[in-house]
Formats: sequence, structure tokens, C-alpha cells
Amino acid sequence: MSGLTKSEILNALKKADESGFNKNLLTLNSIKDFKANDNILDLTITLPLAGSEINDTIKNKISELLKNEFPAIEKINLNLQGKVTAHKDQKIENPVFRRKDALLPGVKNTIAVASGKGGVGKSTVAVNLAVALAKDGASVGLIDADIYGPSIPLMLGIKDKPRVYQDKSTMKMIPLENYGIKVISIGFLVDDNAPVIWRGPMASGAVKQFMTDVEWGELDYLIFDMPPGTGDIQLTLVQTIPLTGAVIVTTPQEVSLIDARKALKMFTRVNVPVLGIVENMSYFIAPDTGKQYDIFGTGGGSGLSKELNVPFLGGIPIDPRIRIGGDKGIPIVYDIPGTEYEKVMIEVARNFAKQVEIRNTKPEPKVEILLDDDE
Ligand SMILES: Nc1ncnc2c1ncn2[C@@H]1O[C@H](COP(=O)(O)OP(=O)(O)O)[C@@H](O)[C@H]1O
Ligand SMILES: [Mg+2]
Repeated sequence: MSGLTKSEILNALKKADESGFNKNLLTLNSIKDFKANDNILDLTITLPLAGSEINDTIKNKISELLKNEFPAIEKINLNLQGKVTAHKDQKIENPVFRRKDALLPGVKNTIAVASGKGGVGKSTVAVNLAVALAKDGASVGLIDADIYGPSIPLMLGIKDKPRVYQDKSTMKMIPLENYGIKVISIGFLVDDNAPVIWRGPMASGAVKQFMTDVEWGELDYLIFDMPPGTGDIQLTLVQTIPLTGAVIVTTPQEVSLIDARKALKMFTRVNVPVLGIVENMSYFIAPDTGKQYDIFGTGGGSGLSKELNVPFLGGIPIDPRIRIGGDKGIPIVYDIPGTEYEKVMIEVARNFAKQVEIRNTKPEPKVEILLDDDE
């Protein structure tokens, strides 16, 4: 009994087939603790999702499965937790990185959703990713960092203005909420039709203020919907907070891929890990014939991910309902439940959660302190 290894347990768990228990999220790191003594197995598993769905039925089924796989075990004490890990620089207990006045003290992970080009579906992906993560039980915030072209208020159907209150010498803003996520956008603060004509530093300043002056509270993920390209706002963001990573959105055709490559390289250059590529507008399925059309070609996103050795998080089809949902303020994850589109988006969100987990649990590189010993 004592010879049981983590990988044996992981392999057994991979055979689980329970809805609500997403075995695709399991890695060796998910097995936090295990002890096998006197035919009793104590086992703690964490999944990188907040895990509102984890319940006793799932726990019992997993215990049964393990008993079948390892007949010598008579009793299992299973502790199954859903928990999003924090980026190392966002860990409050990490005194090296964490200062009392650090930004976003309650936020575990900060993520940029970026692309080289506009119109490829960044905002669509950012909104649906945020909503899908929240549906899985995570606490999620969304910052519309596209100061010159804010589309989040429309896409989430929010027309209110955020409440503001005085906190000592500063004003604090309370984010608005819809579909289970907290949101802030310049679109809540300025007139719908008035163009934002600020200079670069002012736009970057606005994004900074969304971090410093908004009451985010505790979040598993804070997602930034970025403007296109690699300009001031991107630079300000990477210089202001330690991002957990970036998600790059592209369409399959070469003109979009060229710019996606640039965006990806920018993040790599400033040491922000690219958590993965999402290919949007991957294909179209004709509703009358069910035939698939690759309007912008096929395989561009997954090809790019292979070329640059970053994970491919999934491909989202073109569907008029995605656009209509965006215009009506109802994200696809909510609008058309049980369909291919919802499934694809939830898959993208879970692949994303897994990449965050992998990044956050990677062993930290050893820091050697070189002492000056020639007195
Ligand atoms: N997969 C899709 N199918 C159909 N329409 C889409 C899809 N993705 C995005 N759109 C639409 O394309 C337009 C541009 O998308 P958006 O998310 O605003 O791009 P970006 O933020 O990169 O500029 C929006 O009208 C949106 O609703
Ligand atoms: Mg956008």
C-alpha cells in the first residue's frame, strides 16, 4: 500500500467520468497531499477552479473509483477542493514581492486579453471567458482597457454609472456587475457618443486608475480587455502590475497572424508569459446544411501556437448569434446554453484555468544571493 505514487493516483483519477469533476484540469500538482497507511488513503485534490460544482456525490464517486483501482485500500478520506492559485507576485504571504501598498491586494491573477489587430474578437473573448470562469464558480473582474473604443458596456448590457465614495483622501469607485462578473469601463464614465480624445498618457492613466481607485475586493481573475496592438496602454499595464499572463486572440488568416505574432513577442520580451492562443472566427457551420466553411482558412491559430510553442486554448466558430449577443449585451455563454458555442467557450475557459494553474505552480527559479566575501 505504501508504494502508491502521485502518478498512479493521477492515472486512476483520469478515468473518472463525472460531470462537475473536470478531469482535464488535473495535473500532478492537483494532488496536494496524500498518505497511504494501514489501507487508509488520505488524499487532498485541488482543481484550479473555484469549484462551486464540487459536491458530495462527486466526492463519493471519486472515492469509489479509487477503491476499484486500488483494491488494497479500505477507506479513503478525500478532500476535494476547488481553488484558484495565485500568481506568485500576487501572493500576500510573499514578502519579497508583496508590499503593503501593492496594487490589487486581493486579486490572485491578472490577465491581458490581447491581439495585434482590432476586430478579431478580443472583447468577445474577454467577456465570454470572464463569464464562463464565473459560471465555474470563480470570482472574476473585467477591466475594459480599450479606452478609445470601449465595447464592454454594450457587450454586457450595462448602462448604469458606477457608485463613487470618498475613502480618506481618495475617491473610490465600485465596479458594476452583470452575469456574475465585476466590470469597469471608461464607457460607464463618459457619454456614449462623445469620442475619447485624450492623449496617450491620459488613456494609460485611466487604466492605472481602474487598478488603484476601483474597489475590486477579492478576485480569482482580473481580466483586461486590451486595445489592439502594442502601444502605450499595453506598456503601462506590464510596467504597473506583475501580470500572470496574456491570452492572444487571432483569426485564422495570415494578416491577423502576423500581428498576433507581434503582440505575442511584445509580451515575451517584457517577461509576461503567454498563456495561450484563442482562434476566433475559426469556421462557420451553415445552419441549413450543417456544412462547415473555413471562411478565413483553417488552422492558423493552432499553427501559430505550434510555431511559437504556446498552448492553443481553442477555436471559436463564426456565428451571427455571437455578434447579436454582443450587440444585445448577452454573452453567448448565457444566451445559447447547451450549444456548441457554449461548449467551446467553456472549454477555452477551462484550458485557460489549467494554464494559469500550471504557471502558478511551476517551481520558482532558485535565487542565489552572491555575497561579497573579499573583505
Ligand atoms: N465568433 C464570432 N462570430 C460572429 N461575430 C463575432 C465573433 N467574434 C466577434 N464577433 C463580432 O465581431 C465584432 C468585433 O469583435 P470584438 O470582440 O469587438 O473585437 P475586438 O475587441 O478585437 O475589436 C463584434 O461585432 C463581435 O460581436
Ligand atoms: Mg475590443
